[in-house]
Amino acid sequence: MGELPTLPTIYMKLSHLLNGPDPSIRTISNIISEDPAIAAMVLKIVNSAAYGFRNKIGDLQHAIVILGLNEIKNLVLASSIYKIVKEFKSSSAFDMQAFWKHSIGCAIVARVLAETGNLSSPEDVFTAGLLHDIGKLIHAGYLHEEFAAVMADVAETGSQMSKSEKKILGFDHAQTGGALAEKWGLPRVTINMIAHHHLSYTPDALTKEMAAIHIGNTLCIALRLGSGGEKRVPIVNQKAWEILALKLSDLEYVMQRSTKLFEESLSIMEFE
Ligand SMILES: [Fe+2]
Ligand SMILES: [Fe+2]
Repeated sequence: MGELPTLPTIYMKLSHLLNGPDPSIRTISNIISEDPAIAAMVLKIVNSAAYGFRNKIGDLQHAIVILGLNEIKNLVLASSIYKIVKEFKSSSAFDMQAFWKHSIGCAIVARVLAETGNLSSPEDVFTAGLLHDIGKLIHAGYLHEEFAAVMADVAETGSQMSKSEKKILGFDHAQTGGALAEKWGLPRVTINMIAHHHLSYTPDALTKEMAAIHIGNTLCIALRLGSGGEKRVPIVNQKAWEILALKLSDLEYVMQRSTKLFEESLSIMEFE
């Protein structure tokens, strides 16, 4: 646990500020300016086709007002994780680009599911989607041999990664991710969404949020938005589908909307 990466200070500062009574746009802008890569991405996003402004926006404070504070917080988290992904890039045989796309993909599908199902906080669902498989990254970065053995086992048997992990490591990436989220001091709902995203059994306290991540992950694999290394589409937990209470026609909308958003996001957050 002591060796696990820490959450970048910029995210911590921003979270702290946004939880406070009256965050000022100027202070937020100052914090974001500390990281030029993040500042540049924020400007790139407001100037993208999705927002449709005719004149170019070059002012960070203006961009923050347009995007909204939650969106800014998510972006900062996404780019923080992206940095961790890039650090691990050279150290393992795992396809980090595909992994990054899978994380973004799951975050987007889960958020669209949350919006369609009228959940109270689609933003939290998005955050958990970005982080849901971060345990795999930790295994790839810190447990090289065991991780290679897991990948070999998945290739050979075609079983779910978590099953191979339990066999070889004695725990799976959902547990590792949950532990990391706990170390990072993320909210309990986020920790639970990460720790339970497979829903291989149905916990007593199954929430709509957990269901959104679980189904978001499954759809993301089915739609092949990136890849987290799974060879097959996992089975959807029936209770999760019931608790979300969506219609089959909603699902069609969710898939179309998510695919479109996914493609737009990739053109903004390119993986170099
Ligand atoms: Fe997973
Ligand atoms: Fe996943």
